[in-house]
Amino acid sequence: MCGIVGYVGKKTSIKTSIITLKNLEYRGYDSSGVAYIHNKKIQTIKKVGVIDNLLNELTNQTSKICICHTRWATHGKVNVQNAHPQVSKNCKFAVVHNGIIENYQELKAQYKLEHFVSETDTEVIANLLEHFEGNTIQKLEQTMNCLVGSYALAVTDGSDKYLYVAKNKSPLYIAKTNGGYMVASDISCFTSQSYYMLSDRMVARVGKNKVEFFKNGQPINIDPLQNTFNISEAKLNGYKYFMEKEIDETSTVINNIYTRYSTIFEELFKKDIFQDINSVYLVGCGTAYHACQMGAIWLQNNFRLKSEAYIASELRYSTSLIDKHSLVVLVSQSGETADTLAVASLAKKSGAKIYAITNVEYSSLANISDLVFPLCAGPEIAVASTKAYSAMLSVLHLLANHTQGKEKALEGLKKITKLINIEVDSKVIDVVSKSKRVFFIGRACDGITACEGALKLKEIAYIDACGYYAGELKHGTIALIEPNVVVVAIITNNKLKAKTLNAVEEVLSRGATVVIITDDPTIKGNFYTVCL
Ligand code: M6R
Repeated sequence: MCGIVGYVGKKTSIKTSIITLKNLEYRGYDSSGVAYIHNKKIQTIKKVGVIDNLLNELTNQTSKICICHTRWATHGKVNVQNAHPQVSKNCKFAVVHNGIIENYQELKAQYKLEHFVSETDTEVIANLLEHFEGNTIQKLEQTMNCLVGSYALAVTDGSDKYLYVAKNKSPLYIAKTNGGYMVASDISCFTSQSYYMLSDRMVARVGKNKVEFFKNGQPINIDPLQNTFNISEAKLNGYKYFMEKEIDETSTVINNIYTRYSTIFEELFKKDIFQDINSVYLVGCGTAYHACQMGAIWLQNNFRLKSEAYIASELRYSTSLIDKHSLVVLVSQSGETADTLAVASLAKKSGAKIYAITNVEYSSLANISDLVFPLCAGPEIAVASTKAYSAMLSVLHLLANHTQGKEKALEGLKKITKLINIEVDSKVIDVVSKSKRVFFIGRACDGITACEGALKLKEIAYIDACGYYAGELKHGTIALIEPNVVVVAIITNNKLKAKTLNAVEEVLSRGATVVIITDDPTIKGNFYTVCL
């Protein structure tokens, strides 16, 4: 995931902006770069690897303007040529870009753009800016008119008075800062009390003393928003890793949900939220999708209402059944995931009701939705969703139980808090960490937990893992079960216990090492157990 920071103001050390860019390191990146103005010319410095490599390359360069970027490769290998900023053929424009331009190859051909030095989609943007006529705002408008895809852009045209930003389906913010203005793709970069949020297809010319906004070429006014981001919550505060800290914060998050929903419960559920609804679409990606699967089971069981979970990147290409009798519940920690946003806007066009369950109450998803259910999880810095997943389940549980009334619905959250702080035997950790492949299995809700467990193991430990519904294992995949393979079985559903234990016997007989995670202390056998 890429990051943007830009500065315009009094002459300042470039290092200062790059240090701010470090706030975005948590999003992951493989290279970084900066463009600044020196002797009225655009200069760039780019490095592969950590931001410190870029900092070490700098001496004492100063500039009134700079744009900085962390890149997570999408188009082209990880190398200096493909790192941002990307510069136009005649060095008149430098661009940093978050997002993906889907039609960049077609644009190269259509506008006969040549002499590319990178493999990126972004270099096309820089060259289109150079290609079009007019001032930089007009050039940006014309460029945006031909781009298909998502983008947050920061652009310098070599002037030391203004930098330019534009966005579509990728966040971008502007805030006043010491001696000027800062632009960033994440408000965690700002210390100011307020900031501006650009909406889609908006352009801004950012000067030392003022920001001007444009849409469709016309100047517009937008109001600043209050900065509620608590920077102290986004610090390690004594922990070595953000993920560890965030897992430890889970019980605080559930308490936050308890407190916040005690206040907003009546307002959120003041009318029958399922009135005139004949199907509920729960939509998300990755971990959020797993939360949706859990929510779909709860809603279906409690309301006997057709409720299904969908992967946003799939649903966005088959929304034909969504109509005004559909409720689309979009689940997203960040509220900025492009596929989830795409479903939100398509569903809105189809007349569906749109609810957001999100951790970021100022996000694009929150903005587009009819109703926002906050996750109250505080900043999630570790890339893996941990506390946010627990928060998603909690809020979905409230949604699925709201008709029981506030007291009872909130009481249900206690079941979730009970599962926190489980001691895992170091032998189990050893077995899993040394295995070449791990299968997570379970049935019903445990099957969903299995899929989420596998996702986390892959993402965090880089161990080959997959999640299966236990009954599916014997239909082919069992061929891969052999000694050296670890099978983690999740058993929290008493009715399905015997069934999952059958699958455990099958894998044991093929030599797999088994770990059972269960709330049933009577489950004993030739395997490790982690008792909840
Ligand atoms: O911000 P979102 O919840 O929309 O992000 C969706 C996924 O990218 C995310 O859940 C991802 O799968 C997790 N970081 C995995 O731990």
